[in-house]
Amino acid sequence: IAEVEKEIAEGEDKSPDSPSYSNNTTKLSTDNWMFNRTLSNLIRKNILRFFDPERDISILKGTLKPGDVIHYIFDRQSTTNISENLYQLLPTASPMKNQHHRHCAIIGNSGILLNSSCGPEIDSYDFVIRCNLAPVEEYAGDVGRRTNLVTMNPSVVQRAFQDLASEEWRERFLQRLRSLSGSVLWIPAFMAKGGEERVEWAIRLILLHTVDVHTAFPSLRLLHAVRGYWLTNNVQIKRPTTGLLMYTMATRFCEEIHLYGFWPFPQDSQGKPVKYHYYDTLTYEYTSHASPHTMPLEFRTLSSLHRQGALRLHTGSCD
Ligand code: CTP
Repeated sequence: IAEVEKEIAEGEDKSPDSPSYSNNTTKLSTDNWMFNRTLSNLIRKNILRFFDPERDISILKGTLKPGDVIHYIFDRQSTTNISENLYQLLPTASPMKNQHHRHCAIIGNSGILLNSSCGPEIDSYDFVIRCNLAPVEEYAGDVGRRTNLVTMNPSVVQRAFQDLASEEWRERFLQRLRSLSGSVLWIPAFMAKGGEERVEWAIRLILLHTVDVHTAFPSLRLLHAVRGYWLTNNVQIKRPTTGLLMYTMATRFCEEIHLYGFWPFPQDSQGKPVKYHYYDTLTYEYTSHASPHTMPLEFRTLSSLHRQGALRLHTGSCD
């Protein structure tokens, strides 16, 4: 891992918020990429020293009861009580228990996926992880349809489903969940107090309707443990993005990990504009001012791991 540390440290971000890029740091060699099993095993072993993704992927029913007080992760002085509804949706065993997959894909939400024709390739993986309930049907040719695990930050309920305020939006939300049949729906419910009501609204709908998803709520220590792992490896992230969280966790369940839709830059390598998300109108101002993330630094870290064969970043077309 010393080599990883060295390369990551050399690429350290001087102005982590700036959505700029240079060809030196983003140029990825794809022709001669080879999976480095030794390094991948070493990374898994090192991550396991910080936490066990199989356990920390979700709080389990046996460990809490309705009414228990939870301190939010980002605002420790704010608390919530475990509601009856949330308690009902806690799994009794890890939704990833004993799961091991040879080839996994993690799909980030960058506009770099548009016109990539990567859909069929993505659908051919053994396990596909997506972020923040990003839509798939309308973009299937570029992003695929298959989903085995999908995350849902509480902010998604507001941003993509208008706070479930009307029958129409509630139906759209349910429609999206129904299309997930059998997948894990991973809800980071205890990050900040601001998301409390949104989580409750979503949970109520799930319980009221027949939706075949396995809900999971990350443990309270997961985020700090993931950050701790990367900080120890000299990656000075403020708060890991959903994409980096997913990669860090997937090392436990997957042998070869392929990433698509990770490109936190407003232009591609030829200078053509790239949307922040493939499916909405959010812009890069969102990442540079309001966001607590350090995406370009994360990207350089992932690129470094790509160059060493620990993971594969796909940023071009799949034609
Ligand atoms: N991502 C990326 N480049 C972009 C957009 C997203 O690399 N232009 C990756 C990031 O790792 C991100 C993931 O794709 O975590 C999913 O995107 P998004 O839903 O925007 O995730 P977050 O920014 O983590 O979510 P939030 O805005 O709710 O914090």
